[in-house]
Amino acid sequence: MQLSVIGSGYVGTTIAACFADLGHQVVNVDIDEDIVATINAGEPPIHEEGLPELVAEHAGENGTGRLEATTDYDAILDTDATFLCLPTPQHDDGRIDLSIMEAGAEQLGETLSTKDDWHTVIVKSTVVPGSTEDVITPAIEAASGKQAGETFGVGMNPEFLREGTAVHDFLDPDKVVLGADDDRALEDMHGVFDPLVDRTDAPVVETNTRTAEMIKYANNGFLAAKVSLINDIGNICKEFDIDAYEVADAIGLDDRIGEQFLRSGLGWGGSCFPKDTNAIIHAATEAGYEPPMLQATVEVNDLQPQRFLSLLDDHVDVADKRVAVLGLAFKPGTDDVRNSRAIPVIDGLHDRGADVVAYDPVATENMQQHFPELAYASSAAEALDGAHAALVVTDWDEFATLDEEFDTMENPVIVDGRRIVEPREGITYEGLTW
Ligand code: UGA
Repeated sequence: MQLSVIGSGYVGTTIAACFADLGHQVVNVDIDEDIVATINAGEPPIHEEGLPELVAEHAGENGTGRLEATTDYDAILDTDATFLCLPTPQHDDGRIDLSIMEAGAEQLGETLSTKDDWHTVIVKSTVVPGSTEDVITPAIEAASGKQAGETFGVGMNPEFLREGTAVHDFLDPDKVVLGADDDRALEDMHGVFDPLVDRTDAPVVETNTRTAEMIKYANNGFLAAKVSLINDIGNICKEFDIDAYEVADAIGLDDRIGEQFLRSGLGWGGSCFPKDTNAIIHAATEAGYEPPMLQATVEVNDLQPQRFLSLLDDHVDVADKRVAVLGLAFKPGTDDVRNSRAIPVIDGLHDRGADVVAYDPVATENMQQHFPELAYASSAAEALDGAHAALVVTDWDEFATLDEEFDTMENPVIVDGRRIVEPREGITYEGLTW
């Protein structure tokens, strides 16, 4: 099929390249000329494992020609279906901000006003229940002068891609959710996903747009809550001098619990869990139900960096002392620092008057935008040299191999938020929940 993808962020770029790989002809539409030029040169505009190979294979001079990028919305007219992959950030109070989606839908509507043949629009971005029906579809209708169901239809297909493993998650999904209130849109969505479903036997869930939107929030809310619950349990374990990881390993053997997402520690960050839990809490509250479990999920997550710092306080008064922060990315395998737990940790160290030196293998540049004045080291060894304490924030593999680097510390106190450093003689090691 001929597909267009509006937006070249983590999701848009990944799905455009993956759909090209599945045999579709794909055009990625973005307003940013640099991003468009990068893709057309055969390179991905984001750091994502497996993506450089796919973009090089399908875009650029030596590519198959199945992937192109453009700033011109009219390119959509030659395609059968358009994925809307625009950002859905949050307002200051945590409510979802649909203005970028709405503007994109209007622009898409204006473009479609000149198209007489059928066109399917697929909302991929995470939007609160009712957004497709009440905001996005009406915006397309108003701008195109057409009615949904006549010459265009709208569907909702939530994404379950993790940053760092997005290509793998797309090409080997646990499920494909197709939400549509229109048979022709649903038929086109099947056409888009058939090559993937045939290859992987992934279960396909057919539903309406509202339910598809909710499935995404339920998925992220459940996972965020799972991590917060194991953190809650982990904090109890620490009080009783019990290793929370031993407890997690045992309960994970129960199929009803499952072994994943039981790593207690500093909690969750990134662009999804924090934004999505807030958005659904606000949307639910406005609809008449204030969800206590999801509120507690956020509360526990906010607590973890504070507990982490209080463990440091038990060992060192860090005022005017050099403290190393190891890891800035919100999780390993990405340079994304959005809502990274490193941010409240560094804020807390500043409140204590510490002289912070931070290290991350790939996320320094992004964190510099957040903390421009901070000292950044080019290696963990450099950060540790002369430090009175080290705080481990991200579970990068390289931190597991640190050993004699700790010997250069002024005072070898390690507070580990991710259970990655190997405790040994000669260092004071404190785990967050173990
Ligand atoms: C998450 C979901 O896993 C994806 O399915 C979803 O598509 C995506 O959000 C989204 O909505 O776009 P992502 O934010 O990339 O993906 O990251 P995860 O790998 O899920 O990790 C989230 C956070 O939880 C990280 O900060 C991680 O360190 C933390 N975490 C995860 C734990 O603290 N403990 C665990 O056991 C697992």
